Amino acid sequence: MLEQDIERVLFTEEALRARVGELAQQINRDLAGKEPVLISVLRGSFIFMADLVRAIELPCRVDFMAVSSYGSGTTSSGQVKITKDLSESIEGRDVLVVEDILDSGNTLSYLLKLLQARRPASIRLCTLLDKPSRRTKPIQADYVGFQVEDLFVVGYGLDYAERYRNLPYIGILKPRVYEGE
Ligand code: PRP
Repeated sequence: MLEQDIERVLFTEEALRARVGELAQQINRDLAGKEPVLISVLRGSFIFMADLVRAIELPCRVDFMAVSSYGSGTTSSGQVKITKDLSESIEGRDVLVVEDILDSGNTLSYLLKLLQARRPASIRLCTLLDKPSRRTKPIQADYVGFQVEDLFVVGYGLDYAERYRNLPYIGILKPRVYEGE
């Protein structure tokens, strides 16, 4: 079972639900009167996106983009590739990019530049987890669920080698799982 590979739970389902609700309230206030388009950066953010959008009370649109940067290892390669682009134009729209984790900042630095060039009215970034100690690019999120230490976190959409995304909580992976890779 997946549980056996988890050292400890970092954020329970309840903690995640509460924090996602708070983020949505902030977004409801900040974007009042607008009709934002929420862009989920696949695949890691799909569960966060699903919960966040249901707590947002504004009229909004959703769209999806997929990028790959990590391969199956534990560190970012610095290479970003768009594997699925948006379905609709964002020109003149208020964009909220929804990410599961902001780590080195490579992915978002690339992505925000690319989205900015499409002339949206505004772009905001919402990340569930932020690992500021790992940052190599000057990227800051407008909304952060939780700041985390440099730990190997999985669950609630976050994977290790494509596993663990379906855990309902966020946990720390036992080092034996990725040691010797
Ligand atoms: C994760 C995450 C971000 C990126 C953050 O995606 O969803 O997109 O890494 O890392 P960075 O700040 O160092 O660029 P990942 O490449 O693991 O793909 P996934 O979403 O499909 O799991």
